Amino acid sequence: MLAVEVENLTVGYSGIVAIQDVTFEMPHPSILAIIGPNGAGKTTLLKAILGILKPMKGEVKVFGFNIEENIHTVRKLIGYVPQREKISENIPLRARDIVLLGRLIRQGPLAIPTKNDILATKNALKSVLLPPETWNKKFSELSGGQKQKVLIARALVFNPKLLLLDEPFSAVDAPSQRELMDLLVHLKIKHNVSTIIVTHDINPIVEKIDYLLLLNRQAIAFGKPKDVLTDENLTRAYGIRVRLLTHEGVCYAIIGDYHA
Ligand SMILES: Nc1ncnc2c1ncn2[C@@H]1O[C@H](COP(=O)(O)OP(=O)(O)O)[C@@H](O)[C@H]1O
Ligand SMILES: [Mg+2]
Repeated sequence: MLAVEVENLTVGYSGIVAIQDVTFEMPHPSILAIIGPNGAGKTTLLKAILGILKPMKGEVKVFGFNIEENIHTVRKLIGYVPQREKISENIPLRARDIVLLGRLIRQGPLAIPTKNDILATKNALKSVLLPPETWNKKFSELSGGQKQKVLIARALVFNPKLLLLDEPFSAVDAPSQRELMDLLVHLKIKHNVSTIIVTHDINPIVEKIDYLLLLNRQAIAFGKPKDVLTDENLTRAYGIRVRLLTHEGVCYAIIGDYHA
């Protein structure tokens, strides 16, 4: 089964092209990372997969459904964590409230939570491996990594089959970044959830992902990480000399001039 099929996809804003002729297929369940420089069109591509942006050309299918023809079905299959989500730090929402609100928001204002809503909230918090003692903590008092897990739990509250995470690593320290990647592997194996993760930084992800799309307005390369991560592809994507060094299983991108 394929989670996502993107074919010759061109998307833009007011007729100005942002991404052009992008083609790739993502098997289910799997983890796909999208990397590329600022303005490469990474967020645009996620929004096209969600059906928020319409193709100028080409098509997107999610679990076999063409998104333009089946937008409501597709929306139910996807959980989305947008880039730089700002949950107000002044409102004393607890972790569990944030997840529950993700559930109630689809039911309109003044929705009263049912037993099923409460149960779905608990299950989502469990599925992201947050310990119960954190459920009642104020969101503002959680660490960057824990906040990200709460936002992922909220995206999972309707049991989607595909998770879209737009730059989830900002404000998350390196050990927590690795923990989040372990969580995505856990969700894939135990909950049959595929994930597309957009990030700048390949270091914490390279060992855990199944596929990598290198994007810079076009698909520079798509495939297994080791096939995509060549000096030549990276240089084409970033427009400057980039070289990868692997040292004790950790991958380092060296950007700019280098003399080894
Ligand atoms: N709402 C918008 N209106 C007009 N242009 C936009 C809008 N959002 C993004 N763009 C443009 O589309 C291109 C890709 O942006 P984006 O998808 O946000 O890139 P990335 O997420 O890779 O940094 C950029 O040139 C950006 O300026
Ligand atoms: Mg972006």
